[in-house]
Amino acid sequence: MKTVKFPAEFSWGTATASYQVEGAWDEDGKGESIWDRFAHSEGRVLNGDTGDVACDQYHRYAEDVALMKELGLRGYRFSISWPRIFPEGKGKVNQAGLDYYGRLVDELLANGITPFPTLYHWDLPQALQDEGGWADRGIIDHFATYARTCIDALGDRVKRWMILNEPFIFTFMSYLSGMAAPGIRDSGLALRSSHIVNLAHAEAARAMRAAGSAEAIGTAFSMAASYPASDSAADRAAAERHHAWNNDWFLRPMMKGEYPAAYLDQERAIERMEVQPGDLDRLREPLDFVGINLYSRAICADAGTRKNIDVRQIPGPGPRTDYNWEVWPAAIYQMIMRVTKEYGRPPIYITENGCSYKERPGADGRVRDDRRAAFYEGYIGQVGRALAEGADVRGYYAWSLMDNFEWAAGYSQRFGIIDCDFEHGQKRTIKDSGYWYRDLIARGEIAYDETLA
Ligand code: NOJ
Repeated sequence: MKTVKFPAEFSWGTATASYQVEGAWDEDGKGESIWDRFAHSEGRVLNGDTGDVACDQYHRYAEDVALMKELGLRGYRFSISWPRIFPEGKGKVNQAGLDYYGRLVDELLANGITPFPTLYHWDLPQALQDEGGWADRGIIDHFATYARTCIDALGDRVKRWMILNEPFIFTFMSYLSGMAAPGIRDSGLALRSSHIVNLAHAEAARAMRAAGSAEAIGTAFSMAASYPASDSAADRAAAERHHAWNNDWFLRPMMKGEYPAAYLDQERAIERMEVQPGDLDRLREPLDFVGINLYSRAICADAGTRKNIDVRQIPGPGPRTDYNWEVWPAAIYQMIMRVTKEYGRPPIYITENGCSYKERPGADGRVRDDRRAAFYEGYIGQVGRALAEGADVRGYYAWSLMDNFEWAAGYSQRFGIIDCDFEHGQKRTIKDSGYWYRDLIARGEIAYDETLA
């Protein structure tokens, strides 16, 4: 084991997203989002759960900021709800929506916590979905206008921004597997939307940069380190294709203006994406930092179907969280080192990392979630290892500040370092893991195993 000391200015924080924590789904002029529509439709979300109230952060943000302060957090990653700002996705601005984020930002700053917003964490205005959503090129300009509106309103106080959260998930999961809103299953639309999202991403970055107030603009990508199932050339190639698709499909266009080779028939994939002349030049708008959301890894075998990316994922031998995700701390180290190598040592933020475990307050009110603290110890140790080996990691954001609405799984999965009692007025209780995180931040150093693979 070795020990690493984090730099004094390292940004320790927690992350959430608007639909998952805010509630107030139709208050103060907010428009309907695709997640409102999806959750209100029968059979889409487990137990019929919705984000109508969620953690009620819209009303209780000051209490939540006080909790962050108690834990010594230095940053808060939250997202802005597009339909709060533009109820119809475009056109008239809803000032009350902008005011809410202004109040949240002011409260954070007054408590010495850096606001770190994401512009799009999946709650698309339903009105834009009705026009085709991310599969329609009209959205590119609407998104750039929304981005510019946010930075014009908050840019005097917010200096570090993320444009998107997990574009891979809100295109391929939403348009291919149908597991997320708007719940479509169509591989052509999924591919096309991935390209339009990439174009919108670059356009939004340009619009934000033109405002001149941001110090750093990035995006949070869902990543899972790709491990080959065996040493065979076929499995190694499969792991590379998985990496290209899962980890690099949105990062590479932005950084280099090209798509990584993910599909066996890549030409056909590009054709189905309806790439138009000039598009590839428009994609390149390098980010100031790379946000990595990482929970686990992917063990990849050649599937032998000769179709699409042709990868079969094999379950790993590591322990499991209560959401049945494999716990594999070295995955975060591998991912950071790979991005560091492939993109010339860019600044990196771990914009999400965490685990779902069910522990609730005991009779004495204490939440003994030792498994979560152990998870963090392993993963944050491996982040420290990457730092010690030369990666430019600037911050770490635990997912999540508190238990919240876990999309199609509703409230059945608890990712928080703070318990939220959805049955009893959204009462908050800091879990043992929250105190563990507080102590780690205060100490600023962690031991890690430098031999994990
Ligand atoms: C990824 C997403 O960004 C977040 O919204 C989600 O709750 C967590 N991971 C856990 O699944």
